[in-house]
Amino acid sequence: MAALDRFQRPLRDLRISITDRCNFRCVYCMPKEVFGRDYEFLPRTDLLTFEEIERLARAFVANGVRKLRITGGEPLVRRDVEGLIALLAGIDDLDLTLTTNGAVLAAKAQALKDAGLKRITVSLDSLDDATFRAMNDVDFPVARVLEGIDAASEVGLPVKVNVVVKRGLNDGDVLGLARHFRGTGHTLRFIEYMDVGHTNGWRMDDVVPAAEIVRTIDAEFPVEAIEPAYRGEVARRWRYVDGAGEIGVIASVTQPFCGDCTRARLSADGKLYTCLFAVRGHDLRALVRSDADDTSLVDAIASVWRVREDRYSELRSAATEPLEKVEMSYIGG
Ligand SMILES: C[S@@+](CC[C@H](N)C(=O)[O-])C[C@H]1O[C@@H](n2cnc3c(N)ncnc32)[C@H](O)[C@@H]1O
Ligand code: SF4
Repeated sequence: MAALDRFQRPLRDLRISITDRCNFRCVYCMPKEVFGRDYEFLPRTDLLTFEEIERLARAFVANGVRKLRITGGEPLVRRDVEGLIALLAGIDDLDLTLTTNGAVLAAKAQALKDAGLKRITVSLDSLDDATFRAMNDVDFPVARVLEGIDAASEVGLPVKVNVVVKRGLNDGDVLGLARHFRGTGHTLRFIEYMDVGHTNGWRMDDVVPAAEIVRTIDAEFPVEAIEPAYRGEVARRWRYVDGAGEIGVIASVTQPFCGDCTRARLSADGKLYTCLFAVRGHDLRALVRSDADDTSLVDAIASVWRVREDRYSELRSAATEPLEKVEMSYIGG
């Protein structure tokens, strides 16, 4: 039975961050000045084990979750991630997917597919090598991510490509990305740069509105709007009029979609967050490490969800901006 929150929104999607570490230092997510040598990542013993993650995932499914995304940090840097995927693939009726920066995907794609992963999202902000290296800030070449995308596609994993657009950094790459991925079957999704965490120095001026992104593409390759596939789909969908596929835009800043948000997040150390911009999480690790039975886990999740009333993006204002928000790499983007 799907739990309903205070605004009658059901619990449908879950993102689980399996590590707060990453092999990239994307400037909009884990800027080096903050996530440098001295940054204190979670100690290993704080991370949920794969068995704990599976138990909690089943409790979320009992509350209505149908879509589970494994994320991070960079999920593919966690050892034996395919072992976790195999455990989660054993849960019935679950759309199981993962978001990665693609750095080691070429080597992992087959194992992920064999373990039962259904789909994959790869983040790629630019096709221009210099821009890409500057954005990941660890000098990682774009060609290796493209190899990862090809490898995933060859083993039969449907691929989506996420692009965060930041003004003055990669807004000039939107059209090139559209041109490259049109007709490949890989859906591009452009994401407005968001004020997650408090380390990326976010400013409204850095946001390229989704409407502008769509206009840029439409001028060269005409697109038309299509209906969302399901309630709670965050991407607004557009298809190329000439039949070369579709794109999505995630306009969480300029067109908030809190009213339809059916998503929960579980941090790598087992805290349940009911909004990307939540300040506080609910500790499920303590519960899963106690002698609580499965029914208590299901009930604990339901009781958090039932009182949920987050709608940060709709309320975003001068008053909400300075709030002490948690980092994307910790909570799971
Ligand atoms: C936090 S990452 C975790 C998974 C993986 N490391 C990756 O990059 O795909 C998940 C997604 O969040 C996006 N992201 C990170 N910081 C963001 C921000 N400030 N605004 C919008 N999207 C952001 C990333 O581009 C990525 O597509
Ligand atoms: S967006 Fe992904 S790849 Fe980039 S720093 Fe954040 S977690 Fe790492």
